[in-house]
Amino acid sequence: SKLVGLVGWRGMVGSVLMDRMIQEKDFDLIEPLFFSTSNAGGKAPSMAKNETTLQDAFNIEQLKRCEIIITAQGGDYTSEVFPKLRAAGWNGHWIDAASTLRMEKDAVIILDPVNMPVIKNALAHGGNNWVGGNCTVSCMLMGVGALYKAGLVEWMSTQTYQAASGGGAQHMRELLTQYGTLNAEVKALLDDPKSAILEIDRMVVAKQRALTAAETANFGVPLGGSLIPWIDKDLGNGMSKEEWKGMAETNKILGMGEGFNSAAIPVDGFCVRVGAMRCHSQALTFKLKKDVPVADIEAMIAADNEWVKVVPNTREATVKDLTPVAVTGTMTIPVGRVRKLAMGPEYVGAFTIGDQLLWGAAEPLRRMLRILLD
Ligand code: HSE
Repeated sequence: SKLVGLVGWRGMVGSVLMDRMIQEKDFDLIEPLFFSTSNAGGKAPSMAKNETTLQDAFNIEQLKRCEIIITAQGGDYTSEVFPKLRAAGWNGHWIDAASTLRMEKDAVIILDPVNMPVIKNALAHGGNNWVGGNCTVSCMLMGVGALYKAGLVEWMSTQTYQAASGGGAQHMRELLTQYGTLNAEVKALLDDPKSAILEIDRMVVAKQRALTAAETANFGVPLGGSLIPWIDKDLGNGMSKEEWKGMAETNKILGMGEGFNSAAIPVDGFCVRVGAMRCHSQALTFKLKKDVPVADIEAMIAADNEWVKVVPNTREATVKDLTPVAVTGTMTIPVGRVRKLAMGPEYVGAFTIGDQLLWGAAEPLRRMLRILLD
């Protein structure tokens, strides 16, 4: 079986990836070679077969042995190692969770339930750089990709509610620590049912504003009990990088826009960090090219792939099935709140959620591995 290098398998995304690969028995089909940036020479995890020693993730000669390399080590690692590896003449398949190479001409953003034709076309032309998409974009397209595939979308606006995990493991810890700190601050008053809510509120905001630099080291400002309407870099044109990715990556995944035959579809909106743990949620507004009945839209969405699930647009179904708490740890991508908006019959609203670590990060990588092994 093919020698497959695994880098960054111990981090948060890497651990989710390992779990999924074990669940889906991917290791039965490969000879894994585990790399480490810090513990070369150590013992590889139990999934190892013949290669039981951890290899140095910066050792180009060892990396070159692999036919396929999957990395969830992060962008700095990719920037440092990938060019050296290619310069050393390595022609293997590089499957990467980091954003570094995403918009390169010779890289394909992998999300096979949505863009298998784009992947197959690149494979047929010798493509060997495969990069996972931005989590928000991937989860959105798993939910409503059907409308794009049908050529129905004139434009889409998205307002996101992005979880702490998008920042990383430390961000999740920081969020929970802040919640704890705020609760502790008013615990005595909360325990007294006769205490004044405005007094509690005053103490909470005072504490939020008094959080130390150490208590906000990752997000920079309080997130617990608040939100942050800016994610990733400031592009200097009023846009955050996360917002820019929405249009750039959606179109690249679908094989539209720059470098392709069809014009890009406008996608724009605001990306907001909220105090959820690992599910990214999004409120979507579509302008469709024509008036399509809601029932038809729901049927198209439901039929698109085996993971998407239409949630009936009722209060009861929504609060039960369309929340981060309901979705976390599952492969399900619910799409609900589908309805016509007041602006006119071509305007459709929807709300969708995805586990940012599964479809948003790990899953497309292991599925690309399977495609290469087929
Ligand atoms: N940029 C995403 C976020 C992470 O911060 O939520 C995954 O692409």
